[in-house]
Amino acid sequence: MIVAIAYSRAQLGISAPLVRIETHLTNGLPAFNLVGLPETAVRESKERVRSAILSSGFEFPTRRITVNLAPGDLPKEGTRYDLAIALGILAASVQIPHESLAEFEVVAELALTGELRHVRGVMPAARACQLASRSLIVAPDNVLEATRVRNIRVLPAPTLSALCSHLKQTKLLTWATAAPSSERPALTNQRCLSEVRGQYFAKRAHEIAAAGGHNILFYGPPGTGKTMLATRLAHLLAPLDDEEAYEVAAIHSIAGVQRADEHWLVPPFRAPHHTSSAPALVGGGSTPRPGEASLAHRGILFLDELPEFGRRVLDVLREPLETGHVTISRAAGTVDFPATFQLVAAMNPCPCGYHGDPGATCRCTPEQVRHYHSRVSGPLLDRIDIQIEVARERNWLSSAVTAGLESSASVRERTLAARVRQWARQGKINHQLSVSELNIHAPLDRPTEKFLAHAFEHYRLNPRTYHRLMKLARTIADVAECPRISQDHLTEALALRRLEVAPAWPTGTKA
Ligand SMILES: Nc1ncnc2c1ncn2[C@@H]1O[C@H](COP(=O)(O)OP(=O)(O)OP(=O)(O)O)[C@@H](O)[C@H]1O
Ligand SMILES: [Mg+2]
Ligand SMILES: [Zn+2]
Repeated sequence: MIVAIAYSRAQLGISAPLVRIETHLTNGLPAFNLVGLPETAVRESKERVRSAILSSGFEFPTRRITVNLAPGDLPKEGTRYDLAIALGILAASVQIPHESLAEFEVVAELALTGELRHVRGVMPAARACQLASRSLIVAPDNVLEATRVRNIRVLPAPTLSALCSHLKQTKLLTWATAAPSSERPALTNQRCLSEVRGQYFAKRAHEIAAAGGHNILFYGPPGTGKTMLATRLAHLLAPLDDEEAYEVAAIHSIAGVQRADEHWLVPPFRAPHHTSSAPALVGGGSTPRPGEASLAHRGILFLDELPEFGRRVLDVLREPLETGHVTISRAAGTVDFPATFQLVAAMNPCPCGYHGDPGATCRCTPEQVRHYHSRVSGPLLDRIDIQIEVARERNWLSSAVTAGLESSASVRERTLAARVRQWARQGKINHQLSVSELNIHAPLDRPTEKFLAHAFEHYRLNPRTYHRLMKLARTIADVAECPRISQDHLTEALALRRLEVAPAWPTGTKA
């Protein structure tokens, strides 16, 4: 009796636990049983496997076939086990040498013709396979993704029969060569900050947001450069390190999106449309896929025209904004995807866009304005560290404004230097500081503390604002290369929370 063993990888959040596929043939009435918590798509693989084996010129054993996907308590989803199941049956029926499977892990779908097909989520499987010191067999369409993992051995196989010839050593396949190692991305052909004229205050807020990783909301009338500023924030961020790049690529791989070579180290920038649903934003589905919040992990989630998003849709973002990950519950258990992103949002102050604009007349009723803002709930606004007005400027076209506009590259030098200071002091950026860390790294002297207490009283600030304000002041001090937070830094931090300090729209819109 032979029990053939083939190895594959499941997908659980962004991890890829090993699945051992044990195949056993016994005498008795011909049957094909799949056990070990297979879900619908895996159960269907029986038909694909049978056809692929027959159309590849092999025999489908007319015996009792039992395939066990172990461990049995791990839900198995998708079509990724097809090839491993087929190889297990061929090995158990001695049509290929069963020892040949020991050094491989196998992740591919089979077509009825025996061709290998691309599956989602190969990157985490490849990473885990490399760590287990095995080689990975994938469809040719998955090679690029798999070879991104350093020091991995990848064997691409076009068809089941070609792969079996390789395993029988009658005709060898060619091993894949690794993709060229990614270089640190240059700041080329990206839209530059120098294209944004004027908007001194908004640009300053922009720089501080980039330096400390703070969430930011730009609001103001139409056509003042809100979208321009928001889309340029990504270019101020530091490149991802190797570990982060893998993590980001793994999430994208599970979502079926491949990260291009030239973007490998660039923090992701995601800009979902305001018609997006809640699952599109935070992920979901019967086979859970990451949503935009996870695709923006370690990068930027840009929500343009913020109030146009459904309120429920925005509310689901509160969890990842607070915890840095998304938990999706399904019948078979919960799945967790990382979602630590910087939120960048833009909005008009009212439906017509001109509320509070001295140069134009707003046509909205107070009720319409209030309703518009009520869509951006108080708890969400609380989590947006910087709220800055991008007002219409009169001298917009004057040469004084055009002269000396700073490029993204030059602002980036400052933001990166400020980030280096944060890392050296506390091992993380200011936005990620916990309350206790904040007490250590952002202490105030007595007069500054008194000043802050007074400001809180005066503006009747929400206590939840306190720590966000302190983190912001810490970043402002870092950009100014000051070891301690001063009153000036706090004053600027207060000014950057414009909607709390001086609401630009009717009160009662905040929780
Ligand atoms: N400060 C600016 N400097 C240079 N060009 C600008 C500026 N503001 C607006 N523009 C021009 O106006 C266009 C629209 O800008 P942008 O899309 O950023 O406006 P917005 O504030 O997002 O408007 P809306 O509220 O309608 O979305 C830009 O493509 C650019 O041509
Ligand atoms: Mg816009
Ligand atoms: Zn209006």
